[in-house]
Amino acid sequence: MSDENEERDEDFVMAFQDSCDRPALLLIHGFPLSSQMWEPQLDDLAEFVRVIAPDLRGHGQSDSVPGPYSITQLAEDCADLLGHLNVATPFVVCGLSMGGYIALEFYRRYPEYVAGLILAATRAGADSPEGKAGRDKAAELAKNEGATAVSAGMLPKMLAPSTYEDDEELVEFVEDVMGAASLNGVVGALAAMRDRVDSTPMLGDIAVPVLILHGADDQLIPVAEAEAMFKAIPNAELVIVPDAGHLPNLEQPDIFNDAVIDFLEEIFGEDDEDE
Ligand code: MLT
Repeated sequence: MSDENEERDEDFVMAFQDSCDRPALLLIHGFPLSSQMWEPQLDDLAEFVRVIAPDLRGHGQSDSVPGPYSITQLAEDCADLLGHLNVATPFVVCGLSMGGYIALEFYRRYPEYVAGLILAATRAGADSPEGKAGRDKAAELAKNEGATAVSAGMLPKMLAPSTYEDDEELVEFVEDVMGAASLNGVVGALAAMRDRVDSTPMLGDIAVPVLILHGADDQLIPVAEAEAMFKAIPNAELVIVPDAGHLPNLEQPDIFNDAVIDFLEEIFGEDDEDE
C-alpha cells in the first residue's frame, strides 16, 4: 500500500496519475456471501471513492482453498489485495457481520492504514461456548449435506421478517449469492468465526471515526451488540436502520448509502471536482 504511483523499468522510474488515486473504501462481505452482496453500494459509492470489494477465499468467484481459515488470514488476504492494487492510504474499511470481525482485525493489525471503520450488522465479542458448538454443528451439516444446507438454514434469518415475506426478488438474490459459497469456504469460515478473538477490549482504543450501522430487526446479531460497541468506541456514530434485518445494505440501500457517504465526506472531505 502506498501513496506513490511509480512503475519501475531498467532505465527510469515513470511517474503517473490515474483516477485510482482517489481515497479508497474496502467492503468486506459477510458469511457465506460474496462481493455481490454490495451490489446497491458499488456504483453509488464509486462516485465518491475507489471501491474495492473482494470475494473472501472460498466465497463468490475466489478460489475454493481448503480451510480451516482464520479471521487473521482473511484480514491478511484483504491487506495483500490492497497492497497489490497499490491503494492510497489511509482508507476506510467497512465490514458486514463476519466482514466486521475482519475489519476489526484489520484495524488491530494496520491502524496506520485505516482512516475510518464502518461496522455493519456485527459484534465485537467472541463466540460463546454454545456459539462455538453451533459452528461445529454447522460445519458437520455442510460436510454431510453440502454447503447450501447451511445457507438454506440461515436464509430466513438473514432478512427482517417483513422483507422475507414481502420481497421475493431480494430473498432469491440472497439465496443465490449464499449458494455460490463453496464447501471449503463455508467450513473454513465457520472455523475462523468460531476461533476469533474478543475485540471488545480494543474498542476503547480505536482512534479513528467509526460508523456503526445495524438493522432494527436483525435476527442474527441483536441491536444491543451495536449499542454496546457505540458506547465503548470513543468516536462512534450509530445508525439503526428501520425495516431491515441482517443485511441493511440490501434491505434499505438508500439509508445505508446516505450514512456511508456522509461518513466518507466527513473523513475525506467533500468531492471538489466541480469547484
Ligand atoms: C455473517 O453474516 O457473517 C454471520 O452470520 C456472522 C456470524 O455467524 O457470526
